[in-house]
Amino acid sequence: MSNRYVIILAAGMGTRMKSKLYKVLQPVAGKAMVDHVVTQVEKVKPDLIETVIGNGAEKVKELLGDRTKYALQEEQLGTAHAVLQAEKDLGGKEGMTLVVSGDTPLLTADTFQKMFDYHEEQNAAVTILTAHADDPFSYGRIIRDQKGNVSKVVEQKDATDEERAIQEVNTGVYCFDNEMLFENLHSVNNDNAQGEYYLPDVVSILKSQGEKIVAYQMDDLSESIGVNDRVALSQAEKLMQKRINEAHMRDGVTIVDPENTYIDVDVQIGNDTTIEPNVKIFGNTKIGSDCLIGLGSRLNNATIEDGVTVISSTIEDAIMRQGSNIGPNSHLRPKADIGKEVHIGNFCEVKNATIGDRTKVGHLSYVGDATLGTDINVGCGVVFVNYDGVKKFHSNIGDHSFIGSNSNIVAPVDMADHSFIAAGSTVNKDIPKHAMAIARPRQTNKEDYWDKLPLSKSEEWK
Ligand code: UD1
Ligand code: MG
Repeated sequence: MSNRYVIILAAGMGTRMKSKLYKVLQPVAGKAMVDHVVTQVEKVKPDLIETVIGNGAEKVKELLGDRTKYALQEEQLGTAHAVLQAEKDLGGKEGMTLVVSGDTPLLTADTFQKMFDYHEEQNAAVTILTAHADDPFSYGRIIRDQKGNVSKVVEQKDATDEERAIQEVNTGVYCFDNEMLFENLHSVNNDNAQGEYYLPDVVSILKSQGEKIVAYQMDDLSESIGVNDRVALSQAEKLMQKRINEAHMRDGVTIVDPENTYIDVDVQIGNDTTIEPNVKIFGNTKIGSDCLIGLGSRLNNATIEDGVTVISSTIEDAIMRQGSNIGPNSHLRPKADIGKEVHIGNFCEVKNATIGDRTKVGHLSYVGDATLGTDINVGCGVVFVNYDGVKKFHSNIGDHSFIGSNSNIVAPVDMADHSFIAAGSTVNKDIPKHAMAIARPRQTNKEDYWDKLPLSKSEEWK
């Protein structure tokens, strides 16, 4: 088997995206397009991967690190000129070179593998990956001679009306004989509608030398979709989502409405977990088995252990341990650590707080900057008052404690194990073991006061 090299073209600005973000860094299912390409390329274990960078070079390097080598294309003069920048690392080397664009995020390792194999089998000078497009607009068209052999590729802007009607398109993926590629790149000129050096022109140059050009046709264009604008970006997102959701379903996850469930590519989900409609799961979220992720939830970099129930809630950079539950309409913010079998009910917010096993925070509470032990009951409407406008303060609540409803805990407060706060208290001192803290005015009842109240004169209150 000869050496296998890959060149990824990622220097373009992506003008048609109309974005501050460089095109190849635009995310699809939570991962930059060029990262998708590199991830798939890595799977075929090439001898060398070289990424051509230019616009946003530093940002692309920061993202990909040492997963690839780099060639800098200072001026974006076209795809042939981009490949030429890899000459210092690849020129004159024996082997095959796969060229792929950084804006084709759906291409799979399987297709790359087939391209290498087919190219080798055919003993061709170049193999072009082509596909049938119902709407071929913006793609280069594949021109074949009378015998049906590929003779050249014509770009949208250079094509005649007759050529534009051709629906076989260039996907922008090629496998070249490496030596022939670099020998002929220098002969490409920029005499065309865009004044650019086109990589597909190497095909007609090789053809004129009598070399063998073959096309490897994909069954379906969708895998090779090239993202040049936001319309194509949304199509790529939809297709990627379908692929991701189907993979999870095959692995034993129930997705009730896959059309309306959005899961980033690196998310992990255990079997027998059910995902209800309108759920969005981002980043490096990990979900265990036997969980329910209910309607409208949003999870970002969350860790959800086995048997957890999340109903219509938002969880970001937080962990829910085995058998715990939350919702509806609650919010776990960064560094919330929810223990086993904990119950977080509705309209609660937890931030930078650890909540021990079996503790209950049932309704309308804010727990921020606190450590709660096990088996605690936090009543309705409890607020951890953690911020004085300048600094944040931390409170500790001992095991088996009881916090009555509508209490404020003005941090820092240490509440010992087995202690009690009476409802409606505003507590700002430590509470010893077995004590009850009560911090509210005593109730007075003014007998026969009703007649002195203005409302007693109104018809409505008679
Ligand atoms: C290209 C092909 C077209 C094909 C289509 C498939 C050419 C001339 N045309 O068109 O036949 O149908 O892909 O998606 O190749 N880039 C550089 N440096 C440059 C120019 C581009 O690195 O100077 C990179 C871009 O970042 C991008 C890739 O090359 O990742 C392709 O460039 P793009 O401008 O998207 O080419 P298309 O117009 O899509
Ligand atoms: Mg493109």
